[in-house]
Amino acid sequence: MCGIVGYVGKRNSQNILIEGLKKLEYRGYDSAGVAVFTNEGLQIKKSKGRLANLESKLGETPLDGFIGIGHTRWATHGKPSDVNSHPHTDNSQKFSVVHNGIIENYVALKEELTANGHIFVSETDTEVISHLIASLYEGDIVKAVQKAVTRMTGAFALGVLTEYEPEKLVAVRLSSPLIIGVGEGENFIGSDIPAILDYTRNVYILNDGEMAVLTKDGVELMTLEGNFISRELFYVDWDIVTAEKAGFDHFMMKEIHEQPKAYRDTMGSRIDASGSKVVLDEIKMTEEQIGSIRNVHIVACGTAYHAGLVGKNIIEKLARIPVEVDVASEYRYRSPIITPNTLVVVVSQSGETADTLAALREAKRCGARVVAITNVVGSSVAREADDVIVTWAGPEIAVASTKAYTSQLIAFYLFGLYLAQTLGTQEAGYIAGVVAELKQLPDKVERILGQAETFKDWAEQVASHENLFFIGRGLDYAVALEGSLKLKEISYIHSEAYAAGELKHGTLALIEDGIPVIALATQEELLEKTVSNIKEVKARGAHVFGLHAEGETELVKAVDQVFSIPHTLPLLSPALSVVPLQLLAYYASLARGNDVDKPRNLAKSVTVE
Ligand code: F6R
Repeated sequence: MCGIVGYVGKRNSQNILIEGLKKLEYRGYDSAGVAVFTNEGLQIKKSKGRLANLESKLGETPLDGFIGIGHTRWATHGKPSDVNSHPHTDNSQKFSVVHNGIIENYVALKEELTANGHIFVSETDTEVISHLIASLYEGDIVKAVQKAVTRMTGAFALGVLTEYEPEKLVAVRLSSPLIIGVGEGENFIGSDIPAILDYTRNVYILNDGEMAVLTKDGVELMTLEGNFISRELFYVDWDIVTAEKAGFDHFMMKEIHEQPKAYRDTMGSRIDASGSKVVLDEIKMTEEQIGSIRNVHIVACGTAYHAGLVGKNIIEKLARIPVEVDVASEYRYRSPIITPNTLVVVVSQSGETADTLAALREAKRCGARVVAITNVVGSSVAREADDVIVTWAGPEIAVASTKAYTSQLIAFYLFGLYLAQTLGTQEAGYIAGVVAELKQLPDKVERILGQAETFKDWAEQVASHENLFFIGRGLDYAVALEGSLKLKEISYIHSEAYAAGELKHGTLALIEDGIPVIALATQEELLEKTVSNIKEVKARGAHVFGLHAEGETELVKAVDQVFSIPHTLPLLSPALSVVPLQLLAYYASLARGNDVDKPRNLAKSVTVE
């Protein structure tokens, strides 16, 4: 999990590398570094902490040169420190490597290289790569990299430079994302498109098992075995401005406010002109294939997993197919029963999450059909799935996911309705009713956003607490889990989400005077029962903040403070009730003086298992 950039051309590479790294800081910000070929040979500068530390180091002693590589790190092997930062080099200091991923057999390689006289200075797996390439170099950097790659197992995207061939930048991709930007008299590498978008819109997306050799005059694509590949350039037609804050203080707040648009864009042309049914042309399954689905597995991580929990309810209710939901990092290891009649739905904002990708591959290996719900066209998940439902949320920069989650919910509503239409499990009139309500959601989110100040007030009340609970039943419980994750992630307040009826089986012991409890009670048929559970915590001194559907009155007497969510179908309420919880987390983080967009220890895209 890290971001890499590289440049070869006619301009000062240092500035281009730094600007590229700024766009990739969401991938990790434990440390940053650059290697540039200068008049004095290959020079490396790196620094623990935020990119700004590296920038000030480079401000004092700049590196002048036309070719370089850069890295922003999310620590896996070895603590965040200057010495563990990338780029890494070998003992001759003639080779330099930046790496995103993990080298699983690095201990064995390190032992072998140490026995041959190599001296290691860092605790990282990456340092092994620079030593390995140096040991295999016989006058051709491309061949040395190819040989080195055959010795390494794991996942990696690499950028490699050597002082012996200072006009060449070598890039490799195996299970970690990497793109090549093609300019005029200059070329680039990057973990993600925004890193190079200030300079070019022409891009090659490397596939797994491919490499590229860049000089200022051209790019050669080849397999790791050295067979040349010809590929069409991909033209990036979206604007970098969409990835900026547009007047908000933080990306997270901007992205929370972009949700109505994300809902509309994700529904887009997927609702037919009459507004009564769903059209999902991207699902290539035939009616017969859909009819043969016996069970669905939804697999994802973190927030996307929470979207999957809502997705289970949607698919089971609308399409009447049994659904299991798995955390992707657990899925493969529990020997799931996957048959050709299992439909596996993977959910991933980035489309690059290693655990989710591994689960997808396992599902395919077992013969299942895979549908991906992802926000990134051309991502690994999108490319490997059989069918792809893109969530048109636009780039999500804040580490805490908001608009991607809610767009995933919209994708699940569309998919559930589509399955129901195809299978005939719901009346056309009922489907038309759900579709009509779905189309109202963006306006209703706007109404909630108009009352954002309420959650500033709630956040200021909870910000001084170290523990907090979220409770709810049914779909409210699924949303409570997401609300709790959001709060933990950016405010660092410990919180737990509980199925409201489950509290009395143990957790109630933790309820004491003044503890904040956020109670979700938007599900009409469960309201009475949830109110009973709220009374249980109130009786033990909890301060309860309640969320209910407007028009309800029962909750008002039972809680200390209440917020009314615009009325919708209970099935659709997660797409509304999560918004106050996102705002609560945002304001709580702010009240505690945290870095909202870049919470500690986390990174936006998790490309290690
Ligand atoms: C939390 C968050 C993470 C991601 C998770 C999966 O706010 O963003 O929990 O949801 O890392 O990421 P994707 O969806 O990119 O697979």
